[in-house]
Order: sequence, then C-alpha cells, then structure tokens
Amino acid sequence: MSADPVTVMKQQVGKAAADRVKSGSIVGLGTGSTTAYAIQYIGERLASGDLTDIKGVPTSFQATVLAKEYGIPLTTLDEIDHMDVAIDGADEVDPDKQLIKGGGAAHTREKIVDSLADEFIIVVDSSKLVKKLGTTFLLPVEVIPMAVTPVMRAIEALGGQPTLRMGVKKAGPVVTDEGNLVVDVKFESGIDHPAELEKVLNNIPGVLENGLFINVADTVLIGEIIDGQPSVREM
Ligand code: 5RP
Repeated sequence: MSADPVTVMKQQVGKAAADRVKSGSIVGLGTGSTTAYAIQYIGERLASGDLTDIKGVPTSFQATVLAKEYGIPLTTLDEIDHMDVAIDGADEVDPDKQLIKGGGAAHTREKIVDSLADEFIIVVDSSKLVKKLGTTFLLPVEVIPMAVTPVMRAIEALGGQPTLRMGVKKAGPVVTDEGNLVVDVKFESGIDHPAELEKVLNNIPGVLENGLFINVADTVLIGEIIDGQPSVREM
C-alpha cells in the first residue's frame, strides 16, 4: 500500500460514491479532500466513456476548480429543475446520519446544493463517526463580517465558546467563498439538541448558515481499513 491508510480510505469511499452516479445525472459536487476523489473518479468515468451526459453543480471554488480539471461540465441552480444526487464529505456523522460540516468553510453552499438532491451521499472515513455531534469537531457558523461581535456574544449566551477561524498561510481570518467569516463553536459536552440548535443559530441576526445538517443525508458511505485492507460499507 503506497498511500497512508486515511488517504486510502478516502480514495476508496470517493470511488464508491462516484460508481453510484448514473449517466444523464445532475450531480452536486461537494467540498473537501474525500469528495475530491469522488470528483476525480467521476471525471475518469466520463473520460473512459463509462459515464455520459453528466452536469455538476459545485459547492465551492475548490469543487469548481476540480470539476474543470477532471472535465466535468458544470451548471447552476438557475438552469436546472432538479438534482439527482449530491456527493459530499462531513466532519462528524452521528448514528442517526446527522452531520457537522464546514471544515472547509463551504457549508452554506453545501447545504443549499446537498439538500436539493434526490439522494445525498456522504463520503467519510471511519474517523468521522461519533456517538454525539460536537464532541470531536467545533461547529462552524458563517457570519456576515459586520455582525461578528454581536453574533459571538449571542453564541456565548447560548452556552457556546466561539472562536473566529483564522487563515493558514494568510494573515487574518478565513474569508468564505461568499466573502464572510467563520466562527467555530465549542459546546462543552457536545450538542444535546442538534435539530433545535440548527434553527436557533440561524435565527441570530448576522448568521448566514451553520454546519449542522439535520435530516439531509440519505446514504452514508464509510471507508475503513479492516485487517490491513481498505473496504467501504454503507451505514
Ligand atoms: C467543507 C466540508 C467538508 O466536506 C468536510 O470538512 C470534510 O472534509 P474532508 O473530506 O477533507 O475531511 O464540510 O466545508
């Protein structure tokens, strides 16, 4: 095995999702390192002729760049009346298929695209599985820049500990594809009522969207290494 185990799991689960795409489909293209493999394999199936007549709807600048690199024709929500399938990663998945997303700061566009798909397929490696949301990953909240201080205060009043996400190899905060900021929120003992919190956070003036994806996922594909061998199972 040449790549490290996590990379192998991501490749395998990305390929498994790409294999489920049917010719003639409109496909939501998610964001992140796992979905990147799905985009790559969709492109390879198109190039080989195994798959035809695909249109992709990207969820981020990253997904747009990858789709172009791998030759996937793109469309927009203005030009389509349905979406057959969306493939996207996640930062946490609980046993009820509820998710935390937004590790790549793309969760606003991801939620729009993923929730429109007839089937939303999640691709994760086994490290993303949790018993309770908010226990291994902070909850991302996209905030309009002028509202960041009152929004952080409002989140503290709800019992969360907000931190402004800072750039890596870039001075200052992370700026989303929409030109906004991201606040990552810690809840000391995890998130007790995710469905309620999703709505409460989005009701704070200045919050654009948060990374709780409740009752959106249809299929969760999990990449694992068992006895040294990569495998994919469906939750
Ligand atoms: C981006 C996301 C990603 O899908 C999520 O962070 C998982 O990424 P990766 O597959 O690289 O672990 O929500 O906003």
